[in-house]
Amino acid sequence: MEPNRAALQPFQKAGNLEVKETPFPHASTHQIVIRNRAVAINPIDTLIQSRGNIMYTHLKYPFVLGYDMAGDVIEVGDGVTRFKVGDRVLGFSQAADKNINDPAQGAFQRYVVVSEDLACCIPENVDFAHAATLPLGLATVAAALFDKAQLGLRLPREPKQSPTNQTVVIWGGSTSVGCNAIQLAAASGYEVFATASPQNHEYLRKLGASRVWDYKTSSVVDDLVGALQGKTLAGVVSIGVGAAEKCMQIVERCKGNKFVAMVTFPVPQKEPQNFVFLRTAVFFVSSLIYYKIRGARKGFKSNLVAIGPTLENGVARHIWTEFLPRALEARSFVPAPEPEVVGHGLELIQEAFERLREGVSAKKLVVTL
Ligand SMILES: NC(=O)c1ccc[n+]([C@@H]2O[C@H](COP(=O)([O-])OP(=O)(O)OC[C@H]3O[C@@H](n4cnc5c(N)ncnc54)[C@H](OP(=O)(O)O)[C@@H]3O)[C@@H](O)[C@H]2O)c1
Repeated sequence: MEPNRAALQPFQKAGNLEVKETPFPHASTHQIVIRNRAVAINPIDTLIQSRGNIMYTHLKYPFVLGYDMAGDVIEVGDGVTRFKVGDRVLGFSQAADKNINDPAQGAFQRYVVVSEDLACCIPENVDFAHAATLPLGLATVAAALFDKAQLGLRLPREPKQSPTNQTVVIWGGSTSVGCNAIQLAAASGYEVFATASPQNHEYLRKLGASRVWDYKTSSVVDDLVGALQGKTLAGVVSIGVGAAEKCMQIVERCKGNKFVAMVTFPVPQKEPQNFVFLRTAVFFVSSLIYYKIRGARKGFKSNLVAIGPTLENGVARHIWTEFLPRALEARSFVPAPEPEVVGHGLELIQEAFERLREGVSAKKLVVTL
């Protein structure tokens, strides 16, 4: 069998990934080993690379980054019941989690270990590049929508749940997270209002948004509040820098679940030139205090979205093992946004990082392997 190779982050803040041979991983109980065929790049990967001195400082270097992958199962561990060797699957990596901290589970390598509960078979009609776009966006929004500490919405089903007559607002609908949010909220029976740049409006409507507004217009909050009059709000998911502030202005003026699930954490609009850690930390903490005080005064709640609790409370299990396999098979849930394949081979992952740093619009950057 071909040796394992990985695009390694060699040390904290190293500017370039290094492609090297690495140990061949093996599956422990309730794990599988995947031969990766496609991986997707997320903002968090590039952030860990450039700011590893102030975030994810627990990582053991050299480390293998990467959350999103799709490929073929080549080994199953004891107790695995949902997969067999040869299955085509997508998987969500927990490698960088503080309690795991395991390079063997990072996506950016040829052979990778994944937890059985965070993988899902891919139907024939979904190729690996599309499948790889899905995991982190899906996991994040499952937390935002369904965790009781967040919006606590009704879980999605296939076929789609009956209408709730409530409306969810997804601010940042054309992000990877947002495209998953629109589809999951619709599958749970909620009407979805979203924001995005105009060129993405039609795409978001196809994914299930009933109305979409341009978040860059000065009237967007008033327009959304106007459209929500007479409706019951199920909550708001804020995605994008500066989105939380706008979303709070919406919940303050609407009836229903006055809750903002903050996917994007408060950070300065422009990265500070000096004292980066101190200034980012001060901005972050003071923003949270301000949101809590403002919420107490204006009658709304907000919370930072974290995936961790959903891995313990049954939400992730429902999404990965109950909902997703059925919904992908039925094509009622599609991998979105569309992949843009940067190229083939682990050497292309650093280039994909640079491309993501320049920004994307309703696209997920993917490297095939
Ligand atoms: N809390 C967590 O666990 C967690 C997990 C994953 C991601 N995140 C965060 O979620 C955010 C989205 O990540 P992603 O991978 O989904 O992003 P992405 O797909 O790379 O985002 C690209 C999209 O962002 C949109 N956008 C840019 N600025 C915006 C703004 N101010 N308001 C609304 N939309 C804006 C653009 O929309 P248009 O082109 O339509 O203008 C573009 O389509 C990031 O901040 C990321 O750090 C958090």
